[in-house]
Amino acid sequence: MKIISAQAQHIDMVTEIFCLAFENSITFFTPVTQKVKNALREIFHLLHRVFGQSFMVALKDNEVYGYIVMADDIKKLWTGALTSGFLRKAIMSSISGEYGLTPSTFYKIVQNKLLYFRFEMTTKPSAQLLSIAVHPNHHSKGIGQKLLAEGIKHMKSLGVKRIKLEARPDNISAVKIYEKHGFHTVGEAKDLQGKWLIMIREER
Ligand SMILES: CC(C)(COP(=O)(O)OP(=O)(O)OC[C@H]1O[C@@H](n2cnc3c(N)ncnc32)[C@H](O)[C@@H]1OP(=O)(O)O)[C@@H](O)C(=O)NCCC(=O)NCCS
Repeated sequence: MKIISAQAQHIDMVTEIFCLAFENSITFFTPVTQKVKNALREIFHLLHRVFGQSFMVALKDNEVYGYIVMADDIKKLWTGALTSGFLRKAIMSSISGEYGLTPSTFYKIVQNKLLYFRFEMTTKPSAQLLSIAVHPNHHSKGIGQKLLAEGIKHMKSLGVKRIKLEARPDNISAVKIYEKHGFHTVGEAKDLQGKWLIMIREER
């Protein structure tokens, strides 16, 4: 098993892992259809373009077992989404039905994000762990911790001193690996699905 920077050809496998790992969160908004997967794939391609080496995969025999996406500066994502035309295309595709989202689903997603952004506006800016997941067939084999360790190491190499993430309080394995790697809970936030723990890791 090696942890390497993700390449464009890994994005399909990353999207599949995301859909398996976060099935409940996706189906809260919409069934996991091919159109929804296509939309998610576009988002991962954007993350890959914007965050480059901060997007890593755990690879064995050319198969992706897990991934991590870190953001040294989240503003890069909004700039990348705007300048690449991604945001415009995403809005148009959602409205035209290309992503299989009904207007009410689209509204629910935006409302959920707004609830979260209200919280984001009140916290100090920091680097963020945007997403981490391991294929369900390979949980509890230490892959998540390897990805997290490499992600933190990479952020350190960029001079990042403070990393933030959010986790559901009942996500025992996630909270456990975060605590093992120096994150501690500093507060809570809420969206339509419930509570988030806000966790921070700071270099001393
Ligand atoms: C969170 C996640 C990335 C962890 O990946 P992983 O490869 O399974 O993690 P690891 O094997 O490195 O470590 C998991 C740890 O949790 C422990 N664990 C797992 N389930 C547990 C449970 N129900 N109770 C207590 N500990 C548990 C494991 O024993 C292990 O700890 P240990 O090394 O001290 O024994 C993976 O579970 C996942 O993809 N989950 C779905 C996506 C997700 O929730 N992502 C995080 C969003 S915040």
